Order: sequence, then C-alpha cells, then structure tokens
Amino acid sequence: MSGLRMTLVLAVWSLALSVAAEEPKLSVESFRREALLRQFDADKDGTLNDRERAALRAAFGGVDVPLLPQRPDDYKKVRLPKHVDAAEFAQGDNSTEQNVLTNEGAVLGRVLFYDTQLSRNNTVSCAACHGQRAGFSDPKPFSLGFEGGRTGRNSMGLANLRFTNFKGARPGFFWDERAATLEAQVLMPIQDRIEMGMELGELEAKLQKLPYYPPFFAAAFGSPEVTSDRIAKAVAQFLRSMVALNAKFDRAADAAGGNYSAAFDKFTEQENLGKSLFIDGIGGVAEMGCAHCHIPPTFGMPKAFNNGLDLKSKDQGLGALGRPTNDPFTPSNDGKFKAPSLRNIALTAPYMHDGRFKSLEEVVEHYSRGIHPHENLGLAFGEQPGERATIGFQFTGEQKAALVAFMKTLTDESLISDPKFSDPFVRLKRKR
Ligand code: HEC
Ligand code: HEC
Repeated sequence: MSGLRMTLVLAVWSLALSVAAEEPKLSVESFRREALLRQFDADKDGTLNDRERAALRAAFGGVDVPLLPQRPDDYKKVRLPKHVDAAEFAQGDNSTEQNVLTNEGAVLGRVLFYDTQLSRNNTVSCAACHGQRAGFSDPKPFSLGFEGGRTGRNSMGLANLRFTNFKGARPGFFWDERAATLEAQVLMPIQDRIEMGMELGELEAKLQKLPYYPPFFAAAFGSPEVTSDRIAKAVAQFLRSMVALNAKFDRAADAAGGNYSAAFDKFTEQENLGKSLFIDGIGGVAEMGCAHCHIPPTFGMPKAFNNGLDLKSKDQGLGALGRPTNDPFTPSNDGKFKAPSLRNIALTAPYMHDGRFKSLEEVVEHYSRGIHPHENLGLAFGEQPGERATIGFQFTGEQKAALVAFMKTLTDESLISDPKFSDPFVRLKRKR
C-alpha cells in the first residue's frame, strides 16, 4: 500500500471512529413514544405541542421524524372472517419467499409510505394520493404530483393487495396491470416524473443520510444499508398488511354460515336485494352479475376487462402495453382496465380510471343504461344487437338503490381508522 493511500485509509477510519463516538447510537427504540416524550415533552403533558415539536425537529437536523407506539404493532397477523376459506385464501397470497412479511419490515414500510422525503422536493408522500380516510385513495379525479402536475389516471384505493392470485390468476398492479409484482409497483411512483420525480440512486443516498432510516433498515433487514430493493420490499410488506375483510358484509356472511346466496339476517331487505343482484347475478344469471368480474370475498378482479365506458377509449389501458389479448373472445386489450378491490369502495370516489363518476349512484347508472358496446366489452354484459349507442342492465330505481346499499356494506372501518396504518410522523404543520 502506498504511503498516501495508507494515510487516507487511516484518516477515513479515524473520522468514522470519531463520528461513532460522538453521535449517540440511534435505534428503532429511540423513536418509540416514551423515549421521544422523555426528551422533548417539556411540560410533561403526554403530547408534543408545537414548540416541543420544533425542538424535536431541530434535534434531528430539521427533519420530521416518526414517532412509534411504545408497544410494537402487529402487522403479520391476518384475521380472516369465518366465511373465508383459509386454504384457498393462502393460495391467493402473492407474497414470496424473497420478501416475507415481518413486523419490522412493515413498520419501515409505513414510515416510507408517509415520508415526503421520497419525492424530489419533499412535498409528496405516497399518502398524498392514498389517504387513509379515503380508503387510501384520493378524492380528486387526478392527483397532484410533487411539482403540481396532474397524474394521468385516478388514484386507486389500496386494500387486499396481498390477496390477488386466486384460481391461477395473477393480475398485475395499476389500472393497466403494468406492474407484475407489488415490489415492482412501489418503485414506479417514486420515479414517475409527475408523481415523485426521484432517481433510485439519489433516493438511496438521500434516505441513508436521514437520522431515522439506518436503524429502521437495520431492524428490518439486518444492516443499515438503504437500497431501492429494500425500499420496495418494506413498502410492499406494509401494503400487504392492509387487509380489509372486516366489514358489515363479513359479519353478516359469518352469521349466515358463509353462504353468499342465502339472505343475510344482518342485512336489510335492500342490502339483500343488492347482494343478490351483485353476486347471484342479474335475473339470477351468475355470468351477468357484477361478481363475475368483481369477485368475493375481496371483490378484486382477476384481470383487466372492458366495462363499456366508451365506444372508443381515449386511454387504451392494458391495450397500450402491446401484450396479446387476455381473453380469446375479445380481439385486443384496448380499453381494458383492472379495478382495485371494491372493499371500501364507498370511500374512494370518484370512480373509474379517469375518475369520471362522482358517486356510486353514477356508477350504477352506467351499468344500467350507459354501457357502450366496445369491441372488447366483457361477456357479462351480453352483446345486445341493435343501433342503440348504449346498452346495459336496465335496473329499476329500487334495484339501483339496492346495489349502492350493498356496496356500502363492504366498508372496513378498522382499516381506515387503525393507528398502525396512519401517519407516524411528528409534523409541525399538517401537510397535504
Ligand atoms: C401523485 C399521486 C400518487 C403518488 C405520490 C403515489 N401514487 Fe400510487 N397511484 C396513483 C395513481 C394515479 C395510480 C393509478 C395509476 C395507473 O394505473 O396508471 C396509483 C396506483 C397505485 C397502486 C396500484 C393499486 C392496484 O390495485 O393495482 C399502488 C399499490 C400504489 N399506487 C401505491 C403507491 C405507493 C406505495 C406510493 C409511494 C411510493 C404511491 N402509490 C404514490 C397516484 C399516486
Ligand atoms: C365485465 C366485467 C365487469 C362487470 C360484470 C362489472 N364490472 Fe365494475 N368494473 C369493471 C372494470 C373493467 C372497471 C374499471 C373500468 C375503468 O376504470 O376503466 C370497473 C369498475 C367498477 C367500479 C369503480 C371502481 C373504482 O375503484 O373506481 C365500481 C364501483 C364497479 N365497477 C361496480 C360494478 C357493479 C355494481 C357491477 C354490476 C352492476 C359491475 N361493476 C359489473 C368490470 C366489470
């Protein structure tokens, strides 16, 4: 080793030692409630007021830091309702051996999901477009990215992303299914030039320098290195832990012994009528039911379909990806989209890939009279020959109201109020 290199190595080494000696070593425990309150809750009232928040921020170099609950949250446990067949459900699980859900990984994923540092100018987190109260979607038809640009499509509600691979189906993520896995999906909004505008190398370096990430990565992955692969894995774990199977529908189905076709005692007459139209089918023909595409118990879709929003689509959805048709009965994939799980659908307005419908009533009106006979229209709608510009199920007023009432039974209040899915950061002022 040359003299110069030797000196350099020694210099770097002693610098590393002195940093290690001066900086108190942070761990995940340093960010737990008691540890942070002990240091920053000057008036000892059990919460942080604005002045105390400012002191906390200053101590960490002027950045918002996460505050974790004293008792670690459990993200691994999935409580399936009785009406769900556990073995069949396990087969629908898209988790892989390369990314097993751990509590430490999901906690890191939660912090990343709510961190505006993931965007170029620190203004936008995943939650900016996927808000918990809105079923992890955005009330705006198009979302605003880090520089105020508008997304090309409506933000999707996030629920049951872990359970999508039922009966051999492997739907991709996004409206057009362009992401094959959740891990791949996560890195796309970060690099999207409208949404968050980051490059992965620069993101890794940025997060590595923030005081809280090295300990969180160490807890989740065994060493403090921030890599984009680990970012993707942790956020995917957090997304997978967002299971929405605790709604009125589930309680009523459990009470009915899991038979979806039986009238549920816990449902109103109207909800039962809606359930029958949705699940058993229109006119009792199962192929004609909504559940032909939106399949219980998650009410997710096995692949992209066309639901006749337009005769000619402006946005081709899956069709723009150049893949062979996903259905031998349709000539191409043009105008096909994959809707998210309809769990929490009452909270995720507006609806469809372009947010064109403001309410569930408008959605049902579309299926009733507004379906355009697109050349790739899903079979469920039965081709109806004729000159008419639109076709549809021609629901009565009573049926329409029943379908809406039924969809409202799919809201899982626990997912949208559970603190373990909420913003963990101590904020000075509320950001959007
Ligand atoms: C600026 C708004 C915005 C931000 C920021 C954003 N998203 Fe999204 N998200 C969207 C939109 C819009 C879509 C639908 C896009 C499409 O299909 O082309 C979407 C779709 C998704 C989906 C697909 C859901 C499904 O059922 O297929 C997931 C998962 C998701 N986002 C997670 C995230 C995560 C994780 C982050 C942060 C790393 C994030 N999003 C950041 C707007 C945003
Ligand atoms: C042939 C398959 C198919 C059938 C049958 C079907 N849908 Fe859909 N549904 C879709 C597709 C595809 C989308 C997304 C379309 C888009 O955004 O371009 C969708 C979207 C929706 C959405 C909005 C989802 C969101 O997050 O914005 C609701 C609500 C909905 N459907 C309810 C129903 C109801 C109620 C019925 C029965 C009357 C029904 N669907 C029948 C395919 C279907």
